[in-house]
Amino acid sequence: MIKYLGSKRRLVPVLADLFVRSGATTALDLFTGTTRVAQALKRAGGVVTAVDTARYSEVFSKTWIETDADSVDVRGLAEELARLDALPGVDGYVTETFCRQSRFFQPFNGQRIDAIRQAIADDHAGSPIEPILLTSLLLAADKVDSTTGLQMAYVKSWAPRSAKPLALAVPDLLPGAGRAVRDDARAAAKSLGPFDFAYLDPPYNQHRYFTNYHVWETIVAWDDPDYYGVACKRVDSRDDATKSVFNRKREMPGALRDTIASLDAEVVVVSYNDESWLSLEELREMCAVHGHVEVLAFDSKRYVGAQIGIHNPAGQRVGEVGRVRNQEYMVVVGPEATVINMIAPHTANRVV
Ligand SMILES: C[S@@+](CC[C@H](N)C(=O)[O-])C[C@H]1O[C@@H](n2cnc3c(N)ncnc32)[C@H](O)[C@@H]1O
Repeated sequence: MIKYLGSKRRLVPVLADLFVRSGATTALDLFTGTTRVAQALKRAGGVVTAVDTARYSEVFSKTWIETDADSVDVRGLAEELARLDALPGVDGYVTETFCRQSRFFQPFNGQRIDAIRQAIADDHAGSPIEPILLTSLLLAADKVDSTTGLQMAYVKSWAPRSAKPLALAVPDLLPGAGRAVRDDARAAAKSLGPFDFAYLDPPYNQHRYFTNYHVWETIVAWDDPDYYGVACKRVDSRDDATKSVFNRKREMPGALRDTIASLDAEVVVVSYNDESWLSLEELREMCAVHGHVEVLAFDSKRYVGAQIGIHNPAGQRVGEVGRVRNQEYMVVVGPEATVINMIAPHTANRVV
């Protein structure tokens, strides 16, 4: 799985358990990101709809959620990935922009990304395996990048992993049905459903995913955008269309309230942390439209920027290491008996 801000790695088993104990079959993962949670729900037998605005997230959802592993010729897929993996590198947009004008990858890997991405465009555009090939490329690129996990900057000296050759592998596909939707969460909450179970993991602050993961956006879009700044961000990062209401302090609470109220779901679980612009009380009250509310709390490590301090583009530390731990909350709401049953194994984490 790629390095991703806010990825719910540690809480995935809890979410899968809540899903199973709710007795749900259909599920919505409304801010799906890496699809890590959606994958866990699919593994637990759910028919999952995964929604996000990011292009790369849609690619992941098409790979892991929409694709039924039983319908894929895995040997053919492996052969095609081996062919792509063996292509000689070529100089292209990635090499120039992300290896010379900036330093996200070493040029020998950038040239291979250019060659592989172009071959996927030439030979597989619109095919059912296109998202799987792209996922394989993104996972491989993530393993040899030279960042701390965010693409607003790169590290001053090459990260040791960036010297390794990029290697494509077959992603672990999951059997079963599912759906990938690229849409705004507020619109999707109004148009999709009904669902037995809905999970919401919105951005908590001003950090934009579009700019934090602009390299993945560009590799998927493959549209040679003009760029600006030290990190060579896409110029459309400045457009309102690429900005999320969930990253705006004043609008986020209203947008989340509207989204939660619009959901057509029996049980709703909302992730939240204690650095959000909302108070826990506000969130409880927003959720109460769906029934009985319980809150679980989990101690967690903070995002990478807080762990390493703030650095300027030259890699010098200009800010201090902040608080390194925070509280992750899960607000669980639905019919009272269902909610009580869902949280029964987690009462030690219950917030009263
Ligand atoms: C906290 S992350 C979700 C992480 C995810 N649960 C995981 O484990 O990978 C928030 C996600 O919301 C997406 N996002 C931001 N604004 C959005 C919007 N208006 N509608 C839908 N998705 C949005 C971002 O692209 C990002 O993937």
